[in-house]
Amino acid sequence: MDRREAMLRELNLYPLWVQRHAPELTPSVEAAVAEEPPAEVLPPDVQPSNAGSASAPDDATLRVETEVEDLFVAEPYVQRDSGEDSLREFQLKIAGGPLADVAWPELKQKVRDCELCALRAGCTQTVFGVGDEQADWLFVGEAPGEDEDASGEPFVGQAGRLLDNMLMAISIKRGDNVYIANVIKCRPEEDRHPHVGEIAACLPYLKRQIALIQPKLIVALGKTAASALLDTDATIATLRGSVHDYNGIPLIVTYHPAYLLRSPMEKAKAWQDLRLAVATMRL
Ligand code: URA
Repeated sequence: MDRREAMLRELNLYPLWVQRHAPELTPSVEAAVAEEPPAEVLPPDVQPSNAGSASAPDDATLRVETEVEDLFVAEPYVQRDSGEDSLREFQLKIAGGPLADVAWPELKQKVRDCELCALRAGCTQTVFGVGDEQADWLFVGEAPGEDEDASGEPFVGQAGRLLDNMLMAISIKRGDNVYIANVIKCRPEEDRHPHVGEIAACLPYLKRQIALIQPKLIVALGKTAASALLDTDATIATLRGSVHDYNGIPLIVTYHPAYLLRSPMEKAKAWQDLRLAVATMRL
């Protein structure tokens, strides 16, 4: 088994199968996705006509997939009850210190010194982001976990290994024309989802990172990133499958790698999202 095959197996993409009930796409996006992805993205012996092969899911699998997705969609991304009250307070603090003209070194320092919310007190270090500061690609996750808190780099744990494989599937290597960041720069205790006030406090840092990088395309990994950047409470199921706009930059939503580890059946949908990202980048 060569490296590519191993990577595609890890992603549950070898051999390739497609959903029978793919989400509806707008005509322009549909045309883009219908295009063949670059040859190197597809495993050598897999062509679109292989769809519906022996490895395609049966109706029972599709039912389970839907149930799993419903469970995920039902999962709250913020605990509004405990965060809502502090939102106005945080916004006032942020309004007092705009980041509009802040360059990379000062921005990094500001994140290191940040005490806008209580997370900093409970984490080992801040996790700013990593990669090419002029990258075409930007991948945005939720928040550091235990491994990231220890290393200071985003996505270095199990979910990070899957993200690296997802990147490799579209011929991207960490550090090369890609930047990886999170909405939240400090690890929430017990890896809970961040509260709305914590997101409000931290989001300006990510927004400034995006303004400095000026990526050609953003991939939002999971609901926290998608909701924060698109300012919506819509579900991932609703948001994925189309190209959104973040201040003039195309943004594509897909599942968070940690969710894909828990629900490997969804990896095929993530693959579809990555193909949409590649097609959008080529437009
Ligand atoms: N999950 C995230 O959202 N970000 C990380 O950096 C690690 C895990």
